[in-house]
Amino acid sequence: MILKKIAFISIFIVFFTNYAQNPFLPVDYLTKDFHKDRREALRAKMPANSVAVFFANPIRNRANDVDYVYHQNPNFYYLTGYKEPHAMVLIFKENQEVEGRLFNEVLFVQARDESAEMWTGKRLGVIGAQDQLGFRVAFKGGDFKNNKIDFLKFNNIFFEEFKNDVRDTKSNADLYDLIEVFKEKISFNLMNLEDISEDKIREQTLKKLDTEFLKGTMASLREIKTKEELVLLKKAVEISAIGQIEIMKAMHPDMSETEAQGIHEFVYKKYGAEYEGYPSIVGSGNNGCILHYTDNNKTLIGENSLILMDLGAEYHGYTADVTRTIPANGKFSKEQKLIYDLVYEAQEAGIAAYKIGTKMSKPHAIAKKIINKGLAELGIISSEKAYHTYFPHGSMHHIGLDVHDPGTYKKFEENMVVTMEPGIYISIGSDCDEKWWGIGIRIEDDILITKNGPVNLSKRAPRTSEEVEALMELPSVLEKFVLPKLE
Ligand code: GLY
Ligand code: MN
Ligand code: MN
Repeated sequence: MILKKIAFISIFIVFFTNYAQNPFLPVDYLTKDFHKDRREALRAKMPANSVAVFFANPIRNRANDVDYVYHQNPNFYYLTGYKEPHAMVLIFKENQEVEGRLFNEVLFVQARDESAEMWTGKRLGVIGAQDQLGFRVAFKGGDFKNNKIDFLKFNNIFFEEFKNDVRDTKSNADLYDLIEVFKEKISFNLMNLEDISEDKIREQTLKKLDTEFLKGTMASLREIKTKEELVLLKKAVEISAIGQIEIMKAMHPDMSETEAQGIHEFVYKKYGAEYEGYPSIVGSGNNGCILHYTDNNKTLIGENSLILMDLGAEYHGYTADVTRTIPANGKFSKEQKLIYDLVYEAQEAGIAAYKIGTKMSKPHAIAKKIINKGLAELGIISSEKAYHTYFPHGSMHHIGLDVHDPGTYKKFEENMVVTMEPGIYISIGSDCDEKWWGIGIRIEDDILITKNGPVNLSKRAPRTSEEVEALMELPSVLEKFVLPKLE
């Protein structure tokens, strides 16, 4: 017995000291106060006598009985902290009284289920939702059907468009049921009937139903990051920049795109980032000209290729979005360097305009002008004004819980975090001298807007062509990581 006790205590001590000593293990999760504060911020923007309703994301099937890794609806996570599927939250402008209970928000969650939890992990359940997420009023999803809230008494019922891939799993309390019961309670099906103007009740009901309000309102909340969010977002970006540094040191022309991707993702996981914020993009040579290339399956990167790597660690839900383009052999060719330096110049000039009060359309206009001028000087296009598709995308977007985070895109404000990502893509067969063919370059950084001007959160990863080449000369610990050949 005593031996058992000692064994138990020593396991505990080893576990605890490992935990305490491992600087990579995260301890910085968002608190229930953060989510509560976000609900209050939304409530403050809602009109009198209204309710906002959010549903968890559906589970998406990958094949047969294997689903994709679950990802919560970012708005739902932002407002609740709940990470499981089959849930909904009601946020009321004013206190409601039902059967003698006063409340202004209700969370419906998955019920605990011992056998399901044995397969897919512990569920929070109603008690967990109350204790850990701070919802005073929480119910099992199955209780929504008999819940006494009269939705039609509200002036406005705000909800997001329903996801059309929600499957009925015959559980009576899954997302499918929550949505169907909700539709019934708000007479949503009236929306499908024609000739609505003839029926007063139908007209009045339809006026209340609104799937637009939450888009703009959630964007205006989420585009300004709170201090808690900035802690996580900065980490996601820094981890991603370190991933870029490690690959720059490890890169050699025989490496495959997949292997390069794996090195990045290993670095993320080492720091406790749970996932990638979007499918990693690692394209060598002409693949770098495919903007959202995700096959990443070219075996040999090749001696003279560039490798475009657009990757972002997702840390506790917050994702970075960082791109570097590097030469496989460590040295840019003359043509590669000319295009690279042009993209860099456009990015630098664009970032300089990331100032509070400036229109958010300005940096892209600046970058476009520089790139057009440069392409004309290099003879790739006939004049600065000539139509071309070598820079076919915008230069910026917010990042946060989504890689393309919602925003209103008017003027820069303090504590926005926005990318700056000009690029030039000259695919094989383009209408220019073939010495430029196969050059695809994007440089992307994540910029925090502050009172003192733009702060480049990803600056740790070298950006100028000279800095990139210098870093690539450094040795990599991965050189020692030699695996046996397969039969
Ligand atoms: N990684 C996607 C983007 O840069 O927008
Ligand atoms: Mn981006
Ligand atoms: Mn990107």
